[in-house]
Amino acid sequence: MTTLDKFIVENRNRYESELIDWLKIPSVSTDPAFKADVKRAAQWLAERFVSLKFKTELIETCGHPLVFAQSPVIEGAPTVLVYGHYDVQPPDPLDEWITPPFQPTIREGKIFARGATDDKGQMITHLFGAEAWIKTTGQLPINLKFLIEGEEECGSGGLYEFLAGKYDTPERSAEQLIKADIVVVSDNAQYAPGQPAVTYGLRGIAYFEIRLTGPKQDLHSGLYGGSITNPANTLSKMLASLVDDQGRIQLPGFYDDVIELSDNEREQFSSLGFDEQAYFASVGVTGATGEAGFSALERRWARPTCDINGLWSGYQGAGAKTILPARAGAKVSFRLVPNQHPDKVYVALKSHLESLCPPGITLELINIHGAPGSMVPLDSPYMTAAAQAIEKGFGTSPVFIRSGGSIPVVNAFAEQAGMDTLLLGWGQDDDNLHSPNEKFSLADYHRGIATSAHLWEEIGKIRQS
Ligand code: BES
Ligand code: MN
Ligand code: MN
Repeated sequence: MTTLDKFIVENRNRYESELIDWLKIPSVSTDPAFKADVKRAAQWLAERFVSLKFKTELIETCGHPLVFAQSPVIEGAPTVLVYGHYDVQPPDPLDEWITPPFQPTIREGKIFARGATDDKGQMITHLFGAEAWIKTTGQLPINLKFLIEGEEECGSGGLYEFLAGKYDTPERSAEQLIKADIVVVSDNAQYAPGQPAVTYGLRGIAYFEIRLTGPKQDLHSGLYGGSITNPANTLSKMLASLVDDQGRIQLPGFYDDVIELSDNEREQFSSLGFDEQAYFASVGVTGATGEAGFSALERRWARPTCDINGLWSGYQGAGAKTILPARAGAKVSFRLVPNQHPDKVYVALKSHLESLCPPGITLELINIHGAPGSMVPLDSPYMTAAAQAIEKGFGTSPVFIRSGGSIPVVNAFAEQAGMDTLLLGWGQDDDNLHSPNEKFSLADYHRGIATSAHLWEEIGKIRQS
């Protein structure tokens, strides 16, 4: 065993206790009540970088601060930018947690806490991967930069302003700070337990709220029904019109920019031997519908979708209440495949809904957020380096997968700065991210740390052309 590997094994207890400390900070970014805690998380992280002698800055933004840190410069060595987020989703519903969300608890080799996998636990594997080098050899084999944001779960407002140069000073610009040969992100999942993966595609997203207003207040449905347009009926029609019986989205031009799956990629997916029945069983269903002609894996990873995320109108209490509701609303999001653009979806959705809006109903469409998806080239020396590091850290070579989730800034790194991203997830799909009882396997946490340390070495071997 090398000195580096030995150091990582000997520090397992400390890695776990630091993770516990980190997860105790309730850095819920969307809720202003947690503002001071979010700041405390940024400071906790910044202190760790300072103690590694990284040049560290807490960059204040319109929202929560960014943490930027940079290792001492080694001329001629490759530069890696690690991106992640220190904010977490709200823990609600609290009564569904077996142990409280901000009292990290270990059960059956997993740590349960909000942020365990998304993204605090995954993110700090790279901090410890770097620390192992510094503590054993005095320096890293590459130039390492960290850009860790506190608003990933609520729109990344401050990060986008930072990337646009809004917080540049005479001494430094965002462009210089983030400049790297490759970006590394661990904010996603492995293929399955025991099967690590490199993710080369993420879906984008376009998220909307639809608000319909009818009469000035709820009305007696006997006295008025049939003569006044019902916003709930109208909303149901609108929503039902979005997807047909074949699972195809009905917005005009929606599929124009979709890149079709190649035969090769479909074969690649099917060679993973995905067990659809086990997948359905894992979420408590016995079957499912979706776009005709595609497998469940293809639909999740490489096809666009439309999902109603929330829906409200009328009477929801016990028993019956005969009303014609005054209002109806829905949150609707589309997952997009690479090359589709959320702005186009907004324009198409707006004109589609307007064409369906009858007399007596006012329509409001709110564009909440959006980001295109991403694809990462598979034939790069960085991919090879990542695969080798995973083989060393996990003892198994990775499979190459896509993911249905979205990490919006990955597209911005490519479009604005021409940087590709290595998406190296240490989590599992069933880690309950955004849900009660979020968890992260401690074995994967330690493998992630070892892989990170090996990754810096593998990337360090890549000669710059
Ligand atoms: N880490 C997740 C995204 C993720 C999870 C990607 C698992 C791949 C596999 C991230 O924190 C997240 O929740 N993203 C949001 C983005 C949205 C709010 C713009 C998502 O995917 O819903
Ligand atoms: Mn995340
Ligand atoms: Mn998330």
